[in-house]
Amino acid sequence: MKFLITGGAGYIGSTICSALEDNGHTPVILDSLITGREEFTRNRIFYKADIADRSALETIFREHPDIKATVHCAALIVVPESVSQPYEYYTDNVAKSLELFKSLVDLGCPKLVFSSSASIYDVVPNFMVNEESPLKPTSPYARTKYMMEMILKDFCTAYGMKGIALRYFNPIGADPKMRSGIHVKNPSHVLGKLVDTALGKQSTFDITGVDWPTRDGSGIRDYIHVWDLARAHVNAITDFDGVFERAGNPDDNYLVINLGTGNGVTVKELVAAFEKVYGKTIHKRETGPRPGDVAGSYTNADKAWRLLKWKTELPIEKGIEDALRWGEIRETILKF
Ligand SMILES: NC(=O)c1ccc[n+]([C@@H]2O[C@H](COP(=O)([O-])OP(=O)(O)OC[C@H]3O[C@@H](n4cnc5c(N)ncnc54)[C@H](O)[C@@H]3O)[C@@H](O)[C@H]2O)c1
Repeated sequence: MKFLITGGAGYIGSTICSALEDNGHTPVILDSLITGREEFTRNRIFYKADIADRSALETIFREHPDIKATVHCAALIVVPESVSQPYEYYTDNVAKSLELFKSLVDLGCPKLVFSSSASIYDVVPNFMVNEESPLKPTSPYARTKYMMEMILKDFCTAYGMKGIALRYFNPIGADPKMRSGIHVKNPSHVLGKLVDTALGKQSTFDITGVDWPTRDGSGIRDYIHVWDLARAHVNAITDFDGVFERAGNPDDNYLVINLGTGNGVTVKELVAAFEKVYGKTIHKRETGPRPGDVAGSYTNADKAWRLLKWKTELPIEKGIEDALRWGEIRETILKF
């Protein structure tokens, strides 16, 4: 089957393309390369265009009328940048996504899986959330995700769209076959910083925040291997109607599903796991939290299992191992 992947030249979108191909499906990539990498589009059907470009979408659906559904990954994703550049974030993630949704409805391809984020949840006392937990998006980035969920839900009610918002927890690792991985030069995510410290690209790893009410004081997250994340999308789009049937075909044609492991891991536990896999200790220090930091959360994974027939398979050590391998080889694939 053929699927449209917006943002398919990015970290997660390109991994979804690989998982689709490994399962005999064909991804069609729509990406402007505003942040993504042309290298990840090689040997794939690729349209270099903006998601809001109506004529590009008309061309795509004229040339590929057999596209069954869309995975909408395209977005700007850096939280601190969204604080300093809210106009850019609301334009790219909200205004342009709105145009994309309208085009998909008009062009007769109303099934959509949306890349949402766990960053829209409020912090709860025991840190474990489920899809019904209270929301409190605290950055412009998180608010763009929250807004797009609401807009998608309204489109599903009004225009016959069918939407699944997948709320990702904390993706780590790289494609196990090393086709893609983190592509930004200076990663801002915790594992990217650990890899950079191990490879000598930064001198010290900062454990930011050690006074949270967690078991060891450091922040808690739900680290999910990007390959497991990609597999969840394959299940969601290749059995789209089945997912809705198992959910009881809700009247609003809209579903929310958390994608995580079901286990919380603290930053200190992640560092210990990293040092074990790496085989050496790294230079680290404890500092105060960064502005806007929260204690964090992890998810109950029952709904994903019930609706997607999916659960994570790869342990955190595999995510660390693949991130390290990718960190070592990525400059042979990506030109910086
Ligand atoms: N990486 C994470 O930790 C994480 C966590 C939760 C949710 N998400 C969501 O997953 C999705 C993918 O994230 P990622 O980590 O792969 O990011 P990424 O930056 O690697 O990929 C995003 C891609 O979207 C493209 N893009 C952005 N705006 C576009 C536009 N207007 N038109 C066409 N293409 C455009 C970029 O060129 C890039 O290739 C995003 O929606 C993000 O919000 C990511």
